[in-house]
Amino acid sequence: MSEGHAKPLPAASPALQGPASVQPPIVEFRHATVRFGTFTAVSDINIAIEDLPNSGEFVTIIGPSGCGKSTLLNLLAGLLFPTEGQVLVRGEPVTGPGRDRGMIFQQYSSFPHLTVLKNVLFGLRINSRELNLTPKQQHERAMEMIEQVGLAGHEHKYPHRLSGGQQQRVAIARTLVLEPRILLMDEPFSALDALTRGTLQEEVNRIVAETKLTAFMITHDVDEAILLADRILLMTNGPQAKIAEVVVNTLPRPRTRHDVHHLPGYYDLRNHIIDFLVDRSKRLARTMPPEWNPRRVPGRFTNGLTHSAR
Ligand SMILES: Nc1ncnc2c1ncn2[C@@H]1O[C@H](COP(=O)(O)OP(=O)(O)O)[C@@H](O)[C@H]1O
Ligand SMILES: [Mg+2]
Repeated sequence: MSEGHAKPLPAASPALQGPASVQPPIVEFRHATVRFGTFTAVSDINIAIEDLPNSGEFVTIIGPSGCGKSTLLNLLAGLLFPTEGQVLVRGEPVTGPGRDRGMIFQQYSSFPHLTVLKNVLFGLRINSRELNLTPKQQHERAMEMIEQVGLAGHEHKYPHRLSGGQQQRVAIARTLVLEPRILLMDEPFSALDALTRGTLQEEVNRIVAETKLTAFMITHDVDEAILLADRILLMTNGPQAKIAEVVVNTLPRPRTRHDVHHLPGYYDLRNHIIDFLVDRSKRLARTMPPEWNPRRVPGRFTNGLTHSAR
């Protein structure tokens, strides 16, 4: 499969920043609980991601299937609301979807009846008044984004003529062309073959670093989490799933999938997460002590940081 060569993205224009101490977190879950009828999916979720001017944080969530990972992402996307507690973006409760939060799903979410170019233009047209771009500027911005995700030359093709990896690149371009501040990803690479997955992981890693986006990604791939994330949140089995451990990934950047497993500490970190998934996620779901603090779990990978510098 030819994926083409991608050009670096320019950083998003820095937002006006006050002193860090008065800036609300860019993302905050405060005691968020979600019930579907009598079924409590997730319970008392607390997450804070700081809004720092020169670095976005890459946070991933790992947990057993069905524990409530998509539920958390949907709260942030504004597709779902907490039954109790709050979900805030920059200090404001989330009231619905917004252009500041771009979402990439596992399923390729491009329109099958539109070409690559028209798919990427779609959001720009919908938001044209707010973005204040002429049709010519919209076209230029869309073409630039298509080139940046490595799809130059494919802009007039329909999605069914593209490989799975290329279709996911269309979804990435559609999302990023609107310059979100927060990138939400729900197992975005899990439908792809290993080779394509690796290439796209590195693209997303590069884009997030260059644009200083805050990234919030669900994955069930431990290696993917270690490659991409600054912080890895480990969820217990549901019902009433909780964040049981907060793992700070201190492996140095830049990391590539070719070298990450050679970094000192890689296997300790990997084993810690896998042990959680095969054992502690179930045990803690049953017996998590009331005073349990996910940021104070014994062990070298967890600590009280709400943010780790890139
Ligand atoms: N709209 C819904 N109505 C009822 N139950 C739901 C709904 N959405 C999710 N659930 C349930 O909530 C739990 C968590 O789902 P989900 O967040 O999709 O899990 P994950 O993404 O971790 O696999 C599951 O038991 C699922 O069946
Ligand atoms: Mg899910």
